[in-house]
Amino acid sequence: MSPTHPHDELATPVGTTLERYIMRKQAEFPFATGELSQLLRDIALASKIMVREVGRAGLNSIAEAVGPEGEQGPPRHRLGEEAHIRFVRALTNGGECCAVLSEARPDLIDTGNHDGKYVVALNPLNGSVSLDFNVSTGTIFSIYRRVSRYGGPARAEDFLQGGRAQVAAGYILYGSSTMLVYTTGHGVAGFTYEPSLGEFFLSHPELTIPKQGSVFSCNEGNWFDFPEFARTFLTTCKERRYTARYVGSLAADYHRNLFTGGIYIYPPTGEWPSGKLRLLYECYPIAFVTEQAGGVAVTGADDVLDVPPTQDLHQRMPLFVGSAELVRELQAVAAA
Ligand code: F6P
Repeated sequence: MSPTHPHDELATPVGTTLERYIMRKQAEFPFATGELSQLLRDIALASKIMVREVGRAGLNSIAEAVGPEGEQGPPRHRLGEEAHIRFVRALTNGGECCAVLSEARPDLIDTGNHDGKYVVALNPLNGSVSLDFNVSTGTIFSIYRRVSRYGGPARAEDFLQGGRAQVAAGYILYGSSTMLVYTTGHGVAGFTYEPSLGEFFLSHPELTIPKQGSVFSCNEGNWFDFPEFARTFLTTCKERRYTARYVGSLAADYHRNLFTGGIYIYPPTGEWPSGKLRLLYECYPIAFVTEQAGGVAVTGADDVLDVPPTQDLHQRMPLFVGSAELVRELQAVAAA
């Protein structure tokens, strides 16, 4: 119940900060060294800086494209570039991360922390093409424990262990409020940013996605390129009078469906015959969060987390993700 008298606010507990939550979780694992906790803090720190920058995007007119095509495909924006720099810097300064794979760069970034145990794959600012228009954007991240020898630089194999080897994954959504959602494989927790205090507070301790839903999210402009099974499934959604919702920013579309129930769809298209989304820093982390929230993520036939990566660090993959029953239904149509 919301307070009715101004003084009643004093009776409301402050709540659990992300910092305290991380510490508490760490204490549940007696052998934890605290390095993963520190790494999560570094990600949170960079995201706080990005909250500030994203909020000023229009004001500073700094959201224009830096080039017609980014190195990795879609046009990049200065804020996308800034997000890349902020996250890499925070992870470098933190010391636990020995290498970063970023959507904004073709090659691995060696942080110089050669004793660091972890590597981080991230899309620093997805949906940034829409930043000029105040559309929600997000950062998506995936963390692995390295398999290469400590003391030297990380190698591609550290990032190519497969989705089930992720030790943590999540995203930050810069929306009407900013939320950080992550998992370490023990459920999913969501934190909402309180700008006046500069803190993330635990707002959703155990996030679960409804088993069924009636929202479908896809770029229907690609309809004539969609494979037959996707069109058949979407036609069923329409016959059932489901609701179409599509922002065009994975973190935003995914986040909404996580709460309402629904399915996000990015099948192969003419332009993107292998799917558009990146396996290592979009599909795998979103699939990890989804499974931990009780949902399902498939590439069509297979569960995303079971699909082995190729040697391509920026590999693309079709993605169908959301409420378990809806996604399994789509999978059955794909298999028929
Ligand atoms: O990262 C790729 C991405 O920008 C996603 O965030 C988003 O869901 C999708 O591409 C949008 O693609 P399209 O513009 O083709 O609908």
